[in-house]
Amino acid sequence: MTDPAQFGRVAVVMGGSSAEREVSLDSGRNVLAALQARGIDAHAIDGIPALLDALRAGHFARVFNILHGQHGGGEDGVLQGALESLNVPYTGSGVLGSALSMDKTRSKRVWQSLGLPTPKFVALPRGADVHAAARQIGFPLIVKPACEGSSVGVTRVFAEKDLEEAVKLAAKYPGDLLMETLIEGDELTVAILGRQVLPSIHIVPKAAFYDYNAKYVAEDTQYICPGLEGVAGEELRALALAAFDALGCAGWGRVDVMRDHAGRNWLLEVNTAPGMTSHSLVPKAAAAAGIDYQELCWRVLETSFREGA
Ligand SMILES: Nc1ncnc2c1ncn2[C@@H]1O[C@H](COP(=O)(O)OP(=O)(O)O)[C@@H](O)[C@H]1O
Ligand SMILES: [Mg+2]
Repeated sequence: MTDPAQFGRVAVVMGGSSAEREVSLDSGRNVLAALQARGIDAHAIDGIPALLDALRAGHFARVFNILHGQHGGGEDGVLQGALESLNVPYTGSGVLGSALSMDKTRSKRVWQSLGLPTPKFVALPRGADVHAAARQIGFPLIVKPACEGSSVGVTRVFAEKDLEEAVKLAAKYPGDLLMETLIEGDELTVAILGRQVLPSIHIVPKAAFYDYNAKYVAEDTQYICPGLEGVAGEELRALALAAFDALGCAGWGRVDVMRDHAGRNWLLEVNTAPGMTSHSLVPKAAAAAGIDYQELCWRVLETSFREGA
């Protein structure tokens, strides 16, 4: 596609009411500016209710979805279902891919059933016996909300005495919890754009792990791209695409992976509306593939042209 008019009037939906509102606003403002700089008739919309009103009034031809998170976050399939029913094309994964990716436990079950590697885990519904679960997993382990993002509520636990605290923190967020084996090694992430797998990024946080602060606040995290070269790099990228496809994802996204000291890759999660801030990973991977930020936004928007759209 070369003519910005072909996209029609575009709603860049951002913000919303999830825990990741601020990050989404930051992503959204950047996306909006990039699309406008490329001559696209793009406009900011805050949250799903305002978007649906505008769509019903016929104001927009398509949607660039840069909402993050669930419950009004727009990344969990709810918005996607509404857009399908209004017959409005949108960027990123559909109902199934969005919903499944939002739920880390169920994502892992799908991967497991296909023989794709993901850390050993126990699903922790509210009130579950966390000590019994920890005995099953063994230390060190990680506790996290099953359906959040941005590392909120994620704690590494090295000993029994710190378990309750970690569970209490994760339980502040809605939904079930997840306990899994802590993989010690390198953290990698792989961005997918259309059917293109971008170069991996090796994330080297200064802190113990890639927590909220390292993601959005601190300027001391190191990003190495490509994160892994040669055959190992190809294997990692193939695994990421397989993980993305397994969850029924489409359009674009980012697959988070831990690589242990023995060189084995372990799938953590798929992000179906990944961050697009100045700190974000997809723009870094795209840049390494020769795709600048504006071009990246253009290409993501192109993914809204799908069958029947
Ligand atoms: N099993 C694990 N082993 C080691 N580190 C982990 C594991 N699970 C999560 N982490 C760390 O926590 C961060 C956030 O976890 P992740 O599952 O990607 O959730 P989200 O990014 O949605 O909050 C990861 O980027 C990684 O640094
Ligand atoms: Mg993650």
